[in-house]
Amino acid sequence: MSGKSELQQIIASRQTSKVLGDIDHPLKPSGLKKDKIDAWIEAAGNAPFHYQAERLHREKLTSQVPWRMYKLDADDCRELLSELKLSAPEAGKILNMLAACDALVLATWTPDQCSDDQLMFEGTERNMEHIAAASAAAQNLILLATESGYRTYWSSGGILRTPVIFDRFDIPLCEILLGAIFIYPDDVGTSEIKEGKLKDARGKLEDWSRWVSAST
Ligand SMILES: Cc1cc2nc3c(=O)[nH]c(=O)nc-3n(C[C@H](O)[C@H](O)[C@H](O)COP(=O)(O)O)c2cc1C
Repeated sequence: MSGKSELQQIIASRQTSKVLGDIDHPLKPSGLKKDKIDAWIEAAGNAPFHYQAERLHREKLTSQVPWRMYKLDADDCRELLSELKLSAPEAGKILNMLAACDALVLATWTPDQCSDDQLMFEGTERNMEHIAAASAAAQNLILLATESGYRTYWSSGGILRTPVIFDRFDIPLCEILLGAIFIYPDDVGTSEIKEGKLKDARGKLEDWSRWVSAST
């Protein structure tokens, strides 16, 4: 017995897996169903949030939560791969990931006001807390996929964060991509798997936390 709860074990076992499939011979989808992805996302949406998304973000998807999740199953990922192979070969490794994943979730957050390109968003406490809440939801999703035995990768997104993709999927340009979350099966055949660069850079508990004392 490790003495760790199931949740502790799941959190500890989560690690970045960047799975690079062959763009000309994509992996056969493993059978992960939309229902299952939705069940994870519904549960992930129990993340805490402090402030409501502004009204401007509530026209298409109407929730007050400061995050939005746009979901592609394996078939749609392969479809997008076929399109981008022709139209945007510079997308690079994102193409390889689309060739291997069972699902892709584009997780966005909803900044207050709609900023121009110069300033992505205003550095306010509200915006910081929108990002914090959206990140909690994203991590929940990753942990649920991990619990079910799937590999995951939280990516900044490369081409997936550009207006080309937002327009393609009718994602409001005022939203900002927080992460492109790739979900892969455990068995990815001969595909190359890359780990996160900073996987072993955390240090120990005492390197990033300390007890503070309130007594004099
Ligand atoms: C907000 C965010 C964005 C990330 N974007 C990238 C990315 O674009 N490319 C990448 O290689 N890793 C990315 N990562 C994953 C990190 O590289 C990874 O978490 C880190 O190396 C630690 O490894 P681990 O996740 O296995 O613990 C991102 C992680 C987060 C939280």
